[in-house]
Amino acid sequence: MKRIAVLTAGGDTPALNATISGVVARANQLRIEVIGIVKGFNGLLNPQVPHVHLNPLYTSIPELDPTMGGTILGASRDYVSAHDEQAIRQVVDRLGRLKVDGLVCVGGDGTLNGMQALADHIPVVLAPKTIDNDLGLNYIDEQDEWYREPEPDDPGSFRYRLREGRDFALDEMINYATPGYATAVYVSAIHVQRIRTTAESHRRIAIIEVMGRDCGMIALGAAYGRPDLILVPEVPVEPEKLLQKVVGFLDYQKHAVLVVSEGIVDKDGSPYGSVSASKDPAGNVLYSGASEAIKRMLAKELGDDIFVSKRRNDSADAAIFTRKIGHTQRGGRPIKFDRYHASQLGGQAVDLILQGKHNCIATLQYRDREFFMDSCPANALRDRWGVIHARPLSKKFYDEDRFRPSKLGIEYLHSIFHNALSEGDVESSRSLFDTSHLNRPYHSVNVDISKRIRKLT
Ligand code: F6P
Repeated sequence: MKRIAVLTAGGDTPALNATISGVVARANQLRIEVIGIVKGFNGLLNPQVPHVHLNPLYTSIPELDPTMGGTILGASRDYVSAHDEQAIRQVVDRLGRLKVDGLVCVGGDGTLNGMQALADHIPVVLAPKTIDNDLGLNYIDEQDEWYREPEPDDPGSFRYRLREGRDFALDEMINYATPGYATAVYVSAIHVQRIRTTAESHRRIAIIEVMGRDCGMIALGAAYGRPDLILVPEVPVEPEKLLQKVVGFLDYQKHAVLVVSEGIVDKDGSPYGSVSASKDPAGNVLYSGASEAIKRMLAKELGDDIFVSKRRNDSADAAIFTRKIGHTQRGGRPIKFDRYHASQLGGQAVDLILQGKHNCIATLQYRDREFFMDSCPANALRDRWGVIHARPLSKKFYDEDRFRPSKLGIEYLHSIFHNALSEGDVESSRSLFDTSHLNRPYHSVNVDISKRIRKLT
């Protein structure tokens, strides 16, 4: 094998450059050239295929910095449809003209779906990334628990649901944690800590919304910021139960801090916020407004009196505030856990291509308190109808009565986070007040990468 390609697809994460860096480092050792495709699958759909040689003379280009968030290659949510034979043929032809013998796609469940179209034509391997931590399985036979029901309003399409899962041990998890997740949790937990002081001082209720789509993993990890209550999509909101808890906290400590995952649902399974379609082969949707919806519900049910009578606030509306952590969860410097494992997984993806393990995923596994690299065929993630689903937060990780991580959930989080930061991570915050930041404008890596972009003629 002389030359491979790599692309980053889907939403960005802080650890993408670390993964690309791991791909390139391993390729350098093996004397393999690495071609970076610009803007994910979008680059392959473009007849000119903008691309960058990432390791001339088997040395990484200096722009590739594993401590920098985002991706120097750019990303998009475009994909190659498995039904579009012409597009598949064109993409395969273009990869042939680039003379690459294999393709590493850095992505999540959407990318895994998107790469299936190419899997019969060229060796492809997925190096995992997603802040949502929803790529993989809680245990090997979890996909057998999916069942489907016809969508009443949309003949021919189905709604997929997962049965209550079985008990499992942590070492059964396939792809234990995905690069990007740890940094998203780190950022979320810091936000929760910081917002707490305002809620506490002004006797208010803070509702903090975190990302994660249908998976409550980020919300679970935000427990490190010590919110009072956490709501996750996997457990439908029961307004009565929630109100009781909130009133208890107001009574006891005069304020409350809630973390809500953007994809929370009511007892009928309908999202609390609004939903819009995203351009994603896994059929993922975009959520917004969950925290606002919880605020409206709390304000209506609690009423003004509980705040006004104690002279704490003028109204329920003034007392309850929402904050979305938003894309800060996905941005900036990756913490050590992400950096280290992302680059290991990048290297593992190259080894898998070399070993002929096509259409599989490089995975991070955990056993006997140690992390190690392994792989899993993409097929293992399909249900009986062939659909690749996002991994949910297991209900075994969440204590529904306390709205907090369960004992197993704490064990899971501890295994990832007890040693997730390096001194460099802590030290890096000092660089914020570097005076040069005031004098010199930001220099985008896109400017330097543009100078390296080549195109097919
Ligand atoms: O999948 C990653 C993710 O950050 C989700 O948590 C979130 O719902 C979505 O992407 C946001 O997408 P966009 O980049 O389009 O804002």
